[in-house]
Amino acid sequence: MKRTILCAVGTRPEAIKMAPVILALKKNDDFNVRVMATAQHRQMLDQVMKVFGVEPDIDLDIMRPNQDLTALTARLLLNLDEVLVKEKPDVVLAQGDTTTVMTVALACFYRRIPFGHVEAGLRTWDMANPFPEEMNRVIAGRLAKWHFAPTEGSRQNLLREGVSSADIVVTGNTVIDALLSVADRDMELPVGLDPAKRLILVTAHRRENFGEPFERVCRALLALVERNADVQVLYPVHPNPNVRDTAYRILGNHPGIVLCEPLDYLPFVAAMKRAYIILSDSGGVQEEAPALGKPVLVLRHETERPEAVAEGVVKLVGTDYDTIVSESQRLLDDESAYRKMARGVSPYGDGHAAERIVKTLRDYFLGFDNEKFAGMDNEKS
Ligand code: UD1
Ligand code: UDP
Repeated sequence: MKRTILCAVGTRPEAIKMAPVILALKKNDDFNVRVMATAQHRQMLDQVMKVFGVEPDIDLDIMRPNQDLTALTARLLLNLDEVLVKEKPDVVLAQGDTTTVMTVALACFYRRIPFGHVEAGLRTWDMANPFPEEMNRVIAGRLAKWHFAPTEGSRQNLLREGVSSADIVVTGNTVIDALLSVADRDMELPVGLDPAKRLILVTAHRRENFGEPFERVCRALLALVERNADVQVLYPVHPNPNVRDTAYRILGNHPGIVLCEPLDYLPFVAAMKRAYIILSDSGGVQEEAPALGKPVLVLRHETERPEAVAEGVVKLVGTDYDTIVSESQRLLDDESAYRKMARGVSPYGDGHAAERIVKTLRDYFLGFDNEKFAGMDNEKS
């Protein structure tokens, strides 16, 4: 019997991290795969879906300009419920810690539909950092039937919250599947890069950094290009107006800084490969960059991804101006400090996470069917 699996994606990172799962499920005859885009992100979601050749079967077109969390949550819940009633999936899968994921888990709970959480068990144990993602993933985790944890550390976090070990599978992070699946493709670098300069690649979008903290980050970037004539900054600016307006106001007019629209995944991976160092508050970038051997300075005070920090290839620098400037300058000046952070380790996966997720679901339904058939045999005899 074919099971219907509904895969939900809302934002750019969810699409990148769910694409390998969707493609692996589609290869398997046991499943009828339906893809639902909530489109919490519009342009950035469409960009990624195209790169991986994934077409949504259902599109809720939720995004509104400068959306606030309450209205977004309410719109999502109402629209998701309609889809669940119509599609009647056997399983729903979603990835990560966005409002899409939290509402998908809740809508499934209300309809008693089993929910599988991809990238389960990441925690900072601080509800304010990252905001609102820590709360989103705690709720998703509380409601999930399957917890696909990327690392042993995330498994331990779930055990600490009382999740049964039988419900947790350590899979690796599907972002490494995605990254490896494109790594050998021809990739063009973004325009405007000077081959003679060392590249600092920047991404930033966290809500808890809006305002003063993000202004300090921008001023630190200015200081770095002012002090280092051989350094260029490339910053694909997140379209959230709280980020965009500040970034263009402070950084828009410096010859050493290239601001651009969010990059398609392939040119972004090419930029990561070309980068000397990466400054970012992104979750996905903290996972991808170590696999590419690129040092990351994280523009946050805490991270739910401690594995690469423990390896010494990612460092938390927060949003303090002096710390960002001095830690970046150290990597630019000190060859041996740089080499220690540019080692190429991959604590987040081996590129086979999606296969493990599909196998778990297959084994579950096979076991379920076998039990049912055994029960029917017993009834006959
Ligand atoms: C969201 C997630 C965050 C995730 C990030 C990935 C929540 C609350 N936040 O943050 O966890 O790390 O995505 O990037 O779930 N916008 C566009 N076009 C797009 C995308 C966004 O114009 O393709 C603009 C819109 O004005 C939108 C705003 O950005 O209202 C904010 O989008 P939203 O998804 O609420 O928050 P993000 O900051 O993108
Ligand atoms: N990314 C991209 N283009 C960009 C910036 C980032 O394709 O211009 C990719 C990046 O490789 C990573 C993901 O987007 O896989 C991270 O998304 P984001 O930073 O928006 O969200 P987070 O990971 O913090 O939730």
